[in-house]
Amino acid sequence: MTNPRKADSAGEGPIISIRDIHKSFGEHRVLKGVDLEVEEGSTVVILGSSGSGKSVLMKHLIGLLKPDRGEVIVEGRDLGTLDKISLQEVRRGFGMVFQTAALFDSLTVYGNVSFPLREHFRRMPEEEIRERVNDKLALLGLLGHENKYPGELSGGMRKRVGLARAVVMEPKILLYDEPTTGLDPITSQDVNDMILEARDALNVTSVVISHDIGGAFKVATKLAVLYDGRIIAEGLPSTLRDHAHPHVQQFVEEWFSRH
Ligand SMILES: Nc1ncnc2c1ncn2[C@@H]1O[C@H](COP(=O)(O)OP(=O)(O)O)[C@@H](O)[C@H]1O
Ligand SMILES: [Mg+2]
Repeated sequence: MTNPRKADSAGEGPIISIRDIHKSFGEHRVLKGVDLEVEEGSTVVILGSSGSGKSVLMKHLIGLLKPDRGEVIVEGRDLGTLDKISLQEVRRGFGMVFQTAALFDSLTVYGNVSFPLREHFRRMPEEEIRERVNDKLALLGLLGHENKYPGELSGGMRKRVGLARAVVMEPKILLYDEPTTGLDPITSQDVNDMILEARDALNVTSVVISHDIGGAFKVATKLAVLYDGRIIAEGLPSTLRDHAHPHVQQFVEEWFSRH
C-alpha cells in the first residue's frame, strides 16, 4: 500500500508550538519541560506508554489545562494570555476524536454528525446542514449508514462516525487521543487509513497520541516520544530506528519484531 507522506507541506512554520511546559498534580510531576512544534499540514504522533502524560499534554493544546510553566502557542496566539471567549474561539479550530467514539446512543449516525452544527449554528438552514453532513459521510464511507444507531455499528465504523462528527465543523487541527487502543489489528488498520484519508481530503494538521507504534509508523510525518515528562526523541519514523535511548529502542524493536 502506498503511503503518501506529505512532509510539512504548507511550510508556513508551526501551527502549534509547545515551549518548555511543566505540569504537576500535587507532588506528581507529569510534564517536566515539553517542547514540540507541529508544522501546518503535518501529522505528528506523540508516542508514550500508558500514564506517561499524553492526555495531559493534549489537554494543554486546547487550553483545558494550564501549564505551571511554559507556553502553548496556537496559530500565533499564546493560550495563557487569552480570555475565555478567545480561548473558545481557538478551541473551535480543533476537532477531537476520543478513544471511545463517545457517540450519542439515542441518535442516529446522521443525528450524531449533525449535532455540532446544530449546537454551534443554531440558525443554519436544514438544507445546508444536510449538505455538510452528507459531504463528511461520503468522505468517510458512511453513506447508506446514516439512519443506523451506534449500537448497530462495528467499532471501526463508530470511529468513523466520531471522526465525521469532529470534521463537520471543518477544523484546522484534528486531535486524536489513542485512536486505535483496544481495537483488533484489522480495525486498527482501518482507523489508520481513516486518519490518512482525512488528512488528504481535508488538508488538516493532525496530532495523534498513541502507544501503538505500528500505527504511528504508518501515519506520522513526525514522531515524538514522551518519556519521563519530556520529549526524548523526535523525527521521521525511519530516523528513530537508530536512536540511542533504551526506551525508544524498546518501542521501535517491538514494532520491527512484529513485521
Ligand atoms: N486531573 C488530574 N489530577 C491528578 N492527576 C492527574 C490528572 N490528570 C492526569 N493525572 C495523572 O497524570 C499522569 C498522566 O496521565 P495521562 O496524561 O492521562 O496519561 P496517558 O499517557 O496514559 O494519557 C497519570 O499518572 C495520571 O494519574
Ligand atoms: Mg490518555
